[in-house]
Amino acid sequence: MTMYDIIEKKKNKLSLTKEEIIFFINGYVNNEIPDYQAASLLMAIVLNGMNEEEVTNLTLAMADSGDKITYHFNTVDKHSTGGVGDKTTLIVAPIVASLDCKVAKMSGKGLGFTGGTIDKLEAIPGFKVQLTEEEFIKQINDINVALISQTKNIAKADKKIYALRDVTATVDSIPLIASSIMSKKIASGASNLVLDVKVGTGAFMKNIVDAQKLANLMVKIGQNAHINTLAILSNMNQPLGNNIGNILEVQEAIAVLEGHGPSDLKELSIELATQMVSLYKNINYDLAKQQVIAVLDNQKALNKFYQFINSQGGKIKEICFKPKYEYKVYTKQEGYITQMDTEEIGKIASLLGAGRMTKDDVIDYEAGIVLNKKINDYVKENDLLATLYTNKEIDLIENYLKTITITNQPIENNLILGVVK
Ligand code: URA
Repeated sequence: MTMYDIIEKKKNKLSLTKEEIIFFINGYVNNEIPDYQAASLLMAIVLNGMNEEEVTNLTLAMADSGDKITYHFNTVDKHSTGGVGDKTTLIVAPIVASLDCKVAKMSGKGLGFTGGTIDKLEAIPGFKVQLTEEEFIKQINDINVALISQTKNIAKADKKIYALRDVTATVDSIPLIASSIMSKKIASGASNLVLDVKVGTGAFMKNIVDAQKLANLMVKIGQNAHINTLAILSNMNQPLGNNIGNILEVQEAIAVLEGHGPSDLKELSIELATQMVSLYKNINYDLAKQQVIAVLDNQKALNKFYQFINSQGGKIKEICFKPKYEYKVYTKQEGYITQMDTEEIGKIASLLGAGRMTKDDVIDYEAGIVLNKKINDYVKENDLLATLYTNKEIDLIENYLKTITITNQPIENNLILGVVK
C-alpha cells in the first residue's frame, strides 16, 4: 500500500478501505507521510467527499491515534461547531451538574473568528484549565462537573491534521469537520453527547442543508461508537447574546444563571441543558425542561457555577474590567436590522484583542463588543448600535457599521432550527 495510490484513488472518486485510512492516519502521526501528501489527500476529500463508512473509519482511526479516557460512570458532554458570542457551556454545565448529571468536558481555545470556552475560563483570575486525570475525575465525582483544556494526546491525529487544514484551505469539508469533532468526543469518553450545530453567517455551515448533513453524519458516527448522541441546529446569523469577548461573556453567562440576561442566550441554554438531562437520565423532554427551569429559578445552577469555578481555583470577585478605550458605534440610517455579518463581527472582536488570528497571539480578556441592537430591532439615525472595548488604539467603527444591513421590513428569525436524533 502506498500513499500515492491512496491519493490517486480518492482523486478518482473511489472509496477508501478501513486499512487505507488507518495507513494514512498512522503514517501521518508517525511522520512517515509528509505534509504535501497528506494535504493532497485532504484536498481530494474536500472535492470528492467520503461515504458514511469512510467517515466512521476515519473518525475511529483518529480517535485511536492518542490517549483515551474511560470513566466508570455515565457522563454527558456538549459540543458546539463554533460561533460568535457562544458562552452556553458556562451556563449549561452547571445547570446539568446541579441536576445530578456528571459533566466531563474538555474544551479548546478559540481560533480566528470563533471563541473558545477555555479562553473564557482563563479570563477568570486563578482558574486552572489543566488538572491531572485523577484530579479531573475526582472533581466530577465530588461536584458533578469539571472542565479542562484538551490534553495534547487526545486524538493526536486531529491536532496535526487540523493545523494542516488550517493552512491548506481544507477546513470547510463536512466529512473532515465531522471526523475532527467526533474523534475528540470518542477519545474523551463521553457516554451522552449533545451537539450544537451552528448555521449562518457566523458559522462554518452557512446554510441549513449543509448543517443538516453535518448533524446527521455526526449523530450516526456517535451512535456507531455507542455514544448516545443528539444534535440541535441553531441560528448563527447574529452573535449569541449581547456580549462578545472573554470577560464580557463570563459576565453575561452569570447574568443568565442569575435569572436575567438576553433571551436568545437563555433560550438556547435551556434547550441544550434540557436535551443533555433528557439523554443522561433517559427521561422525556418536558420533564427534563421542568427540572432545568427549576434549578435556574431556585439558583441551584448559579451556586453550582460558583462551586465549579472555586474548585478549579477561579476568583470571580477578582475579575477587573477597565479597558482603556471605548468606541461607540451609532447608526446612520433608520429601519430594521435584517442582516449581521457575524463572521466579520467575530473578526472585529479578535482585532480588538478578544481572539487569536494565529495560534500564538496573546488574548486581551477585557477586549470585546457589547451589542445594543440585533436582528429585527428597529433603529433610528444616531441610535447606539454597539460599544467596542479594547486596550489598543484601533478604530474599527466603520468596519462594524459595514457588518450591519438595515432595510424597511423585519425578517423571520428563529433560534432553534431543528433537532437531529
Ligand atoms: N471544530 C473542530 O474541532 N474541527 C473542525 O474541523 C471544525 C470545527
